[in-house]
Amino acid sequence: MYHVLSSIKWDLPMAPPAFFLRPPRYEDASAYCAFIADPDVTVWLEDRCQRPLALPQAQASLVGDAWCRWAIESDGAFVGVTGLEDYDPTRGVARFFIVLGERSVWGKGLGLAVLRAVLSHGFDRLGLRKVTSDYLESNKGSRIIHHRAGFTVEGRARQDRWRRGQWVDRVFLSILSEEFRAAEHGQRPA
Ligand SMILES: CC(C)(COP(=O)(O)OP(=O)(O)OC[C@H]1O[C@@H](n2cnc3c(N)ncnc32)[C@H](O)[C@@H]1OP(=O)(O)O)[C@@H](O)C(=O)NCCC(=O)NCCS
Repeated sequence: MYHVLSSIKWDLPMAPPAFFLRPPRYEDASAYCAFIADPDVTVWLEDRCQRPLALPQAQASLVGDAWCRWAIESDGAFVGVTGLEDYDPTRGVARFFIVLGERSVWGKGLGLAVLRAVLSHGFDRLGLRKVTSDYLESNKGSRIIHHRAGFTVEGRARQDRWRRGQWVDRVFLSILSEEFRAAEHGQRPA
């Protein structure tokens, strides 16, 4: 069963750049190839992302069958992909993913804003009970956005991947629907 995506316009009152989540398109693939060819973007991603992608592979991975995958558009440009995967309907669980491939948008709050938008969709629209995620420990940006969104660490796989001349642990996290709602309430101004 595939979840049919509509586009989401996400307006936040604070600083993060405005963005738009929409279904990926074939014409995003050349930019996606450039993202995956940039070692600064891919270093903390899966091993399969450590090699450049040919255009047909990029098209297949962007617009091929997926349960919940969006292109992230900001300021009129395709800047990355996000969504939920590994959906388990019997447990109401899915796994979050995000790649902001356009490095100029990093550090402006976009990653956290996108994460919160995807969680909101997962819990409020898809009825998920729990969202899981993970990051390689050296990925400071990923660590910060997960903790700011209210995730809790469940454990770690020690020395899980070889990156930049050393073994790096993988940290596993999750957030429950009630925790997300509490975190969102806590962030709202009184
Ligand atoms: C990880 C990622 C999603 C973060 O997105 P982002 O838009 O930069 O995130 P935000 O701006 O919302 O927050 C990141 C925070 O981490 C900080 N940060 C990022 N990289 C950092 C680093 N190397 N050292 C210290 N702090 C860092 C930022 O300054 C920011 O904190 P601040 O708000 O106090 O300034 C994005 O960098 C990305 O997609 N990277 C490539 C792919 C990837 O690693 N995906 C995640 C796989 S788990």
